[in-house]
Amino acid sequence: MLQKVVEVAKEAGELIKADFGKHHSVEYKSNLSDLVTETDKKSEKLITDFIKKEFPSHNILSEEGSGKEGNSDYLWVIDPVDGTTNFAHGLPIFAVSIGVVKNGEIIAGVVYDIMRNVIYSAEKGSGSFANGKKLSVSKNSDLRKSLLVTGFPYNVSENPNNVYGKFIAFLKNSRAVRRLGSAAIDCCYVAEGVFDGFWEVSLHPWDICAGKLIIEEAGGKVTNFKGEEVSIFSVEFLSSNGYVHEKMMKILLEN
Ligand code: IPD
Ligand code: CA
Ligand code: CA
Repeated sequence: MLQKVVEVAKEAGELIKADFGKHHSVEYKSNLSDLVTETDKKSEKLITDFIKKEFPSHNILSEEGSGKEGNSDYLWVIDPVDGTTNFAHGLPIFAVSIGVVKNGEIIAGVVYDIMRNVIYSAEKGSGSFANGKKLSVSKNSDLRKSLLVTGFPYNVSENPNNVYGKFIAFLKNSRAVRRLGSAAIDCCYVAEGVFDGFWEVSLHPWDICAGKLIIEEAGGKVTNFKGEEVSIFSVEFLSSNGYVHEKMMKILLEN
């Protein structure tokens, strides 16, 4: 199963790479910041056609709408291009993200960091890997020495979760906070020990399905802001190396 997920993520990644740097006609979704390009749609078609051929009974949830419902125990959760804004502006930070859920549990996840040519992958119970190299989260327990990452939802100005306040509080209490523009890559960097923590509100299942498993299989922790277990449908997403988790929770709950 994981091999098949890697295969299709790579194929989609090559398609996206070939379109990178070309002129893109963009369409807008919720507002002028929320883009979709032809490439998002082509990538989604390639991935969903592959699943329909290889696993015809499986269900599909994919960002740009070509989903498929049915009675299968399996659900593929797909972000055909995570980091579309970066892609459309020529910033080489974007990924393909594919997670496979069986009876509500994520069993496989692949994030292809296309321009760095890194395949992040995980299978439930078998660890996380970057191009075959085993990953583990950082060991730092001092928030003041932490490098954190976050992202902003497309409705950031109207979002009721005090997004700006939380961002400022982390800026004041950590070493630095980054904003890369791809939640899937943010997760992989937590798994790899580059970032000590990543939080965001109002993410979608396709942003974090693969990334959540990749973090957990690398020894990291994923919860909501209260420290409770989360599903891929949760509004709050907090992930860390585990050692700074409670300190991050405190900031998120106080701001
Ligand atoms: C977005 C990216 C970004 C995050 C946004 C997502 P998209 O996904 O993951 O980092 O901050 O909330 O919507 O739209 O590029 O697939
Ligand atoms: Ca996304
Ligand atoms: Ca996307």
